[in-house]
Amino acid sequence: MIGRLNHVAIAVPDLKAAADLYRNTLNAKVSEEVDQPEHGVTTVFIELPNTKIELLGVFGDKSPIASFLERNPGGGIHHICYEVDDIVAARDKLVADGVRVLGEGEPKIGAHGKPVLFLHPKDFAGTLVELEQA
Ligand code: CO
Repeated sequence: MIGRLNHVAIAVPDLKAAADLYRNTLNAKVSEEVDQPEHGVTTVFIELPNTKIELLGVFGDKSPIASFLERNPGGGIHHICYEVDDIVAARDKLVADGVRVLGEGEPKIGAHGKPVLFLHPKDFAGTLVELEQA
């Protein structure tokens, strides 16, 4: 079921500083900042040859990463995203195996315009996992 690693997401307190770090220190290909009001984050994507890094900054008052940054003021790895061919079939199998899906349990359109779901970190080896329809 599990496919490619789509991205690793890193929540950061200062998005511009983090983007500059990747751009100038690692010579990475770094996108512009994109506000995602419906997700409460501003994103910067870093394209690597085999995957992407998603830098997440706070957008608005109800950002889902605000509490994470309170616990991790310097930033840190927030989630990892795996691709699946059929997100509804993947969800149904995971739920049948006792894994909790966050929110309403229905896929939502994520930052790349594709359906995504998040799995409860307590059911997944302490890691917040995003599944994205490939
Ligand atoms: Co993500």
